[in-house]
Amino acid sequence: MKEQLATIRAQALEAVASAEDSAQLDSVRVQYLGKKGELTALLKQMGKLSPQERPVMGQLANAARADLEEALEQRSRELDAQALEKRLKDEALDVTIPGKPVRIGHKHPMYMVLDEIKDIFLNMGFEVLDGPEVELSDYNFTKLNTPDDHPAREWSDTFYLDEDSRTLLRTQTSPMQIRAMETLSLPIRVIVPGRVYRKDEVDATHSPMFHQIEGLVVDKGITMADLKGTLNAVIKKIYGPNTVTRFRPHHFPFTEPSCEMDIQCHKCGGVGCPTCKGEGWIEVLGAGMVHPKVLRNCNVDPDVYSGFAFGMGLERLALGRFKISDLRLIFENDIRFLEQF
Ligand code: PHE
Repeated sequence: MKEQLATIRAQALEAVASAEDSAQLDSVRVQYLGKKGELTALLKQMGKLSPQERPVMGQLANAARADLEEALEQRSRELDAQALEKRLKDEALDVTIPGKPVRIGHKHPMYMVLDEIKDIFLNMGFEVLDGPEVELSDYNFTKLNTPDDHPAREWSDTFYLDEDSRTLLRTQTSPMQIRAMETLSLPIRVIVPGRVYRKDEVDATHSPMFHQIEGLVVDKGITMADLKGTLNAVIKKIYGPNTVTRFRPHHFPFTEPSCEMDIQCHKCGGVGCPTCKGEGWIEVLGAGMVHPKVLRNCNVDPDVYSGFAFGMGLERLALGRFKISDLRLIFENDIRFLEQF
């Protein structure tokens, strides 16, 4: 029995040493120390031994068992260490490899100009408002003193959203004049940038969607001098201090008197060239004194308060500011174009 024990011990230790992973090691453990294991089986035969032999064999068997357990334990630690090392090697990160640069976008040129303009007005004490692009025709037209038979209300000019022409994609940001007067307390000084929609074909200067910046000032004693002073100061901030401007009489239903503001062509200095289409002047905005009827529509007393309003096209300002020749470039989002700014 002694020899049998020695053989089993040697085989077991050998098997432990050659186990290559923890699964193999486990089956070695079961093969020798499990309930039906070889060493266990041997120990069960102890009963057959004589009382003198029994303690001697018992000691030997226990020693063999302890040796085997320790060998299993040690091999298990070795295998764990090996596995860890392999993982570290496999997942090794070479921190010296140069990174892949992330391409970061930047602001669209039109929004750069919008931010400049917002800054100019904020510094003058204006607030910036936002308004709905889906508007009631009441706000887009009626309350702006634009009656039912006005040509601007034609289906061929306006994107209506229902058969009875109650809602539409706003054709101008001017409805925000009404909303501002209805919701804010006087005095009012606001600008409202936003998208507007008209049934225009796309070409170098037209798009069915474009952006306007509406402005409204209402207070006691506001005059045309305030309108001219404010807009001259703003336009000179945008186009440079030497910009020459002029105000031309015009007509809008919701302002009286109304005007358009031109800047002298920066390309030809007023002589006439392709940029200004031979005119020498470039129109930059529409404006006027808020019509008394419009004030009254918003419960503002025209005998106490007066105001001025203006609307400028943002794309046109961006084209002029960056000397871009075609409006379509603003909307196409061609990276080769956008990266130039
Ligand atoms: N809403 C006018 C337009 O779209 C511009 C404008 C705004 C004119 C405010 C006068 C006052 O042409």
